[in-house]
Amino acid sequence: MTRVIGVVSGKGGVGKTTTVINLSAALMEFGKNVIAVDADVKMSGLGLQLGMYYFPVTLNDVLMDRGNIHEALYIHSSGLRIIPASLAVENVKVSRLNRVLKDPFLKDSIVFVDSPPGLEKNAISILKACPETLIVTTPEIPAITDAMKIISKSKKTKTKPIGIIVNMNRNRDSNQINVDEIESTCGLPVIGVIPEDRTIKKGIFIGIPSVLLNPYSPSSIAFKEIAARLIGENYIPPKFAFIKRFLGGFRK
Ligand SMILES: Nc1ncnc2c1ncn2[C@@H]1O[C@H](COP(=O)(O)OP(=O)(O)OP(=O)(O)O)[C@@H](O)[C@H]1O
Ligand SMILES: [Mg+2]
Repeated sequence: MTRVIGVVSGKGGVGKTTTVINLSAALMEFGKNVIAVDADVKMSGLGLQLGMYYFPVTLNDVLMDRGNIHEALYIHSSGLRIIPASLAVENVKVSRLNRVLKDPFLKDSIVFVDSPPGLEKNAISILKACPETLIVTTPEIPAITDAMKIISKSKKTKTKPIGIIVNMNRNRDSNQINVDEIESTCGLPVIGVIPEDRTIKKGIFIGIPSVLLNPYSPSSIAFKEIAARLIGENYIPPKFAFIKRFLGGFRK
C-alpha cells in the first residue's frame, strides 16, 4: 500500500525537514520502503541537511515536465531515498504535485513530503496532494496558534491530519505548553514529543540522519516511537539506552 504523508507546519523553523529525514530513516531501519520528497521548492533544505548538493534532475524538473520522477531519485550513503528540490530560485507550479505523487513509481512506498511553512499557495497545494498529514509544532503559543490555522485549513481539503508532533521540547521548562493543552486547543492527538537534542544539529553537520548517527539519543528514540506508531507497531527502546549512548553507541 502506498502512503503519502505531508509534513506541515504553521510557523517556520519548527522541525519539518528534520522530522521528514528522521522518520524516513527510522522507517527504513524498520524495513519499510520509504521516499523523502522535498516539496519546499523555494527554500529547499532536505538534500542539504543530508550533505547532498548535486542534483542534475530535481522535483522542480518533474513538476515542470523537464524530467521523470525516477530521474529525480537519489540514494543517500545511508540508503535513504530522496527526491530533492532544486537549490535554484525559480517559479514552479506545485499544483502539479498531486499528479506527480500518484506516479506508479511511488507505488508501495511510504512517501514523506516536506512542506514550506504557513498557508501560502505552495503549502496549500501540498495539503491537497497528500492524503495524510503530520503537523509539526514547538510547544510555544505562536507556533501552536499557527498550527491551529493549518489544521483548520487542512479540514477544508481532503487530507487527513494524523496528529501533531511536538518538537524541541525541553524537560522541566514551565514556559512551555503541555501536551494536554496542545491536544485540546488543536483538537488532534499529539503522536509524539521530540526533545531538544544536540544530536540533531550534529547529524546535519555531518550529513547523516541523527536517528542513524546516534540511535540511542533521546530524539532518536522519540522519532522511532513515532515511526512505529505510524505503521501500527510498537517500538520498545533498548534497555540501558542512556548507557549505550555514553559508551559511544554511534550506529548499531
Ligand atoms: N529536536 C531538535 N533539537 C534541536 N535542534 C533541532 C530539533 N529539531 C530541529 N532542530 C533544528 O532547528 C532548525 C530548524 O529545523 P528544520 O529545518 O527541520 O525546520 P523546518 O520546519 O523544516 O524549517 P522551515 O520552515 O524553514 O522549512 C535546524 O537547525 C535543526 O537542526
Ligand atoms: Mg524545512
